[in-house]
Amino acid sequence: MIFHPKEITLKNGKKAILKTPEISDAAGMLAYIKKACGETDFLLRTPEEWEAVTLEKEEKWVKNQRESKNTLAITCFIDGEIAGNCEISFRSGTKTRHRAVIGIAILQKYWDLGIGSAFFREMIAAAEAHEGTEIVELDFIEGNSRARALYEKFGFRITGMIPNAVKQSDGSYKNEYQMQLILPSKP
Ligand SMILES: CC(C)(COP(=O)(O)OP(=O)(O)OC[C@H]1O[C@@H](n2cnc3c(N)ncnc32)[C@H](O)[C@@H]1OP(=O)(O)O)[C@@H](O)C(=O)NCCC(=O)NCCS
Repeated sequence: MIFHPKEITLKNGKKAILKTPEISDAAGMLAYIKKACGETDFLLRTPEEWEAVTLEKEEKWVKNQRESKNTLAITCFIDGEIAGNCEISFRSGTKTRHRAVIGIAILQKYWDLGIGSAFFREMIAAAEAHEGTEIVELDFIEGNSRARALYEKFGFRITGMIPNAVKQSDGSYKNEYQMQLILPSKP
C-alpha cells in the first residue's frame, strides 16, 4: 500500500513529510531502525540483530511493503532525514480479518514533536477506510509511559498482559501490555 507524500507541521514549527518509503530510502531505513533500537529498551530488537540485514534484504522489504495489499507503512522525513516510521498491518485470514496491528518507532531527538500523533491520525484513518477492519491492536513494554499516553490519547485501552514477556539486557523481566481500539463506526 502507498501513502502519498503529505506535509505536516511539527510542534516546533518545522515541516516534515509523511510518505511510504521508496526503494531508494532502504539504506536510510536500515540506519534509522538500528539507531532507534539502540536508543530505547522499549523496542523488541537490538541494533545487533539488525546487522544481519543487508541493503539488498532491506530493499526487498521496502518493495514488499509498497506492493503489499495488507500493510501500510508511513515514514516521517525531516530535512531529508528519516525521523520515524510506523506500519499498520491488516490481517487477511477469514477469522481474523476484522483486526489490524500497529508498530511505531521514532528517533529520540524527534520525540514529543507530534510525529507519533500524526502517524496515529493517518493509521486510524486508514483502518477506518479499510473494508472489514473493526479492531486495531498494539502492545507496549511495561514502563513505556510515553507510548502508553499516546495510545490512550487515541482511544486504545489495555486488554491483556503477558507477564515477563521481555528479558532486558540487564536480566530484568518486563511485562507486555496489549491494547485495542474498537473503531467507532463498527460494532
Ligand atoms: C512512543 C513514541 C512513538 C511517541 O511518539 P512521539 O512523536 O514522541 O509522540 P507525540 O509527540 O505525538 O505525543 C507524545 C505525547 O506523550 C506525552 N508524553 C511525553 N512523555 C510522557 C510521559 N513520560 N508520560 C506520559 N505522557 C508523556 C507528550 O506530552 C505528548 O502528549 P500530547 O500530544 O498530549 O502533548 C516515541 O516516543 C518512540 O518512538 N519511542 C521509542 C520507540 C517506542 O517506544 N515505540 C513504541 C513501542 S510500543
